[in-house]
Amino acid sequence: MNSVSSIADLRRQVSQWRAAGERIAFVPTMGNLHEGHMQLVDNARERADRVVVSIFVNPMQFGANEDLDGYPKTPEADSAQLEERGCDLLFLPTVADIYPSSDSGANEPTFVEVPEISNILCGESRPGHFRGVATVVAKLFNMVQPDVALFGEKDRQQLIILRRMTTELNFPVEIIGVPIVREADGLAMSSRNGYLNEAERAIAPHLHQIIQELAAKLKQGVSDYSLLEQTTAAKINTSGFKCDYIVIRKVTDLGEPTGGESQLAILVAAWLGKTRLIDNIVVSCD
Ligand code: PAF
Repeated sequence: MNSVSSIADLRRQVSQWRAAGERIAFVPTMGNLHEGHMQLVDNARERADRVVVSIFVNPMQFGANEDLDGYPKTPEADSAQLEERGCDLLFLPTVADIYPSSDSGANEPTFVEVPEISNILCGESRPGHFRGVATVVAKLFNMVQPDVALFGEKDRQQLIILRRMTTELNFPVEIIGVPIVREADGLAMSSRNGYLNEAERAIAPHLHQIIQELAAKLKQGVSDYSLLEQTTAAKINTSGFKCDYIVIRKVTDLGEPTGGESQLAILVAAWLGKTRLIDNIVVSCD
C-alpha cells in the first residue's frame, strides 16, 4: 500500500490507474479505523480495481464545543489494517491542502450545503456539521475522482445528504451505502465508542435493543408514530441515556411518514455521559 499526502502525488497515482483503464473506489474516513470501516474497504475491493482510502479529521464538520482536539488518532494501526485488507492507496491530506483559504475550514469562503435535510435531526443538534461533511466530501471527490464511493449506513442522514449532493452537483460517482457493523452485543461500531467508560459501555447496547423493540411495534402495525416516539424517548432516558432525538421517518428523505410506507427508518441520537451515540434501523412494514 502506498501512502501520499500531497494532492499532486494522489492525482499522479490515480491518473496512471485511469490511463490503464482501471476503476477506482474511494472510502473517505476520519481514521481510528474499526471493522465498520474495513467492511467499506472490502466492499470497495469488490466493486473496483483500485481502492483509495482517505484519513482526514475534518475540522469544518466539528462544532466549537465538540471533540475535534480529542478525536482519536491511531495512524499505525489504521495503516496496518488497511494494508491487510488490500487498500491500494492511503491519502493523508493536510488541513492546508483541504482548506487553502482558512486555517481550519471554519471560515472557508466556499462551501457546499445541501439544504433542508442538513438542518434536521443531527443537523439540528450539530449546526454546520453537514455543511462541513458535504464540503470536504465534494473536495475529496474532486481530488480522487473516484468511480464509486462507499459510506456506512450508521450515518444514514450523512449518506442521504451525500447522495443528494452527488446527484445535484453532477459528480460522476456512484454512492454505495454499506450496512452497519455491530459489536456482539448489538452496539453499532463507532470511533466514539472508545470514549465510553466501563459502566457506560455496559449501558450502550440498550440503545439498539430499544429501537429493535420499537421496530417490532411498527411491524405489528402500530401507527401512532408520535406516541411511539414519545414513549421510546422516555425509555431511552430511563435506561441511563439523555435522548437527543428518536424518530420514525421515511427511508428515502427522512421526511415525516404520511402513511402507507412499505419501509420506515428509525433514527436515534442519545448522550451517554459525554459521548453522543447514534444508531438507526430500517423496518419493512408489509
Ligand atoms: O463519516 C465520516 O467519517 C466523515 O463524516 C466523512 C464522510 C469521512 C467526512 O469527513
